[in-house]
Amino acid sequence: MFKTVEWRGDAVRLIDQGKLPLQEEYPEFTTYEQVASAIKRMVVRGAPAIGVTAAMGAALAAKNIETTDRDIFFTEFNLALKILAETRPTAVNLFWAIERMRACAQAHRSEALPALRKRLEQEAIKVYEEDLAINKKLSLHGAELFSDGDVALTHCNAGALATAGDFGTALGVLKAVHLSGKKLSVFADETRPWLQGARLTAWELMKEKIPVTLICDNMAGHCMKRGMITKAIVGADRIAANGDVANKIGTYTVAVLAKRHNIPFFVAAPMSTIDFNITDGGHIPIEERNPNEVTHVMGQTQIAPDGVNVFNPAFDVTPNDLVSAIITEKGVARAPFVESLKKMRG
Ligand code: MRU
Repeated sequence: MFKTVEWRGDAVRLIDQGKLPLQEEYPEFTTYEQVASAIKRMVVRGAPAIGVTAAMGAALAAKNIETTDRDIFFTEFNLALKILAETRPTAVNLFWAIERMRACAQAHRSEALPALRKRLEQEAIKVYEEDLAINKKLSLHGAELFSDGDVALTHCNAGALATAGDFGTALGVLKAVHLSGKKLSVFADETRPWLQGARLTAWELMKEKIPVTLICDNMAGHCMKRGMITKAIVGADRIAANGDVANKIGTYTVAVLAKRHNIPFFVAAPMSTIDFNITDGGHIPIEERNPNEVTHVMGQTQIAPDGVNVFNPAFDVTPNDLVSAIITEKGVARAPFVESLKKMRG
């Protein structure tokens, strides 16, 4: 129904997520610098989608480096990877994809440059295709955790818009539940300040004809207390080896409330979102974004007095003891996550 990200041979085409749901625009980006800027400005956002787009940005860089000199090529290629890596700090899929493209270039270092450029293009397309397949698999695993009649709360957008397309992660699970014929309805947190829930999740679920109710983030506790919610499911930007989960700011609040009301709290994410290099969530870098995201709605309508002090962390960390299960393409991991995630890693 829409394409989140698309390789066009000499450009990367993205749906502009800052304009949704009122405008559906597909700008094209022809240089890696433009791709990096699109990631920073959140034209594309969501951990897996950022990873896929960065891989395509790297392939674009390889294509546009005008030289026949191998050393110059690698110097400029590595500079492009550095610029792409500096766009956003929290979503580990960005760094996973960049290292995959770097490894591909190294593996084919001795090949003629035209062949090497082609390899990198093919690798970026593989990252894209694998993401589609991985999230479909993950969604089918997750759907088994839901029963007929469930009412799921979700926070931010972890759908097709946050991945290469089609299913998504947390929303992919909900789509799979719906497609399985089980009765399901969804409550979507608006997800201040960038409103991924109100603008993107509501839009996706309505397109899928999945019943969705939009709420303000501060209404989740009231809905849980009233017994209106039976499950909570979110995506992730980075999961530590012990199962601590970084996701959109406000996720920790949802997890605490879910625990208080004995509501299962699920996290859906591909294995590429698990950072086995870090032992716990305390080591996850948390992005802080422009204060005007808080003082203005979508950077336009001012809602706060001029000059007010603002703190705008974009993510928070939910400790593993609040996580009921982590759903990946390899299956469903339960506590203790150090063991279950390591086993899935294989
Ligand atoms: O700032 P964003 O919109 O990139 O944050 C996105 C999220 O927190 C998502 O929940 C997460 O990336 C998972 S996407 C499948």
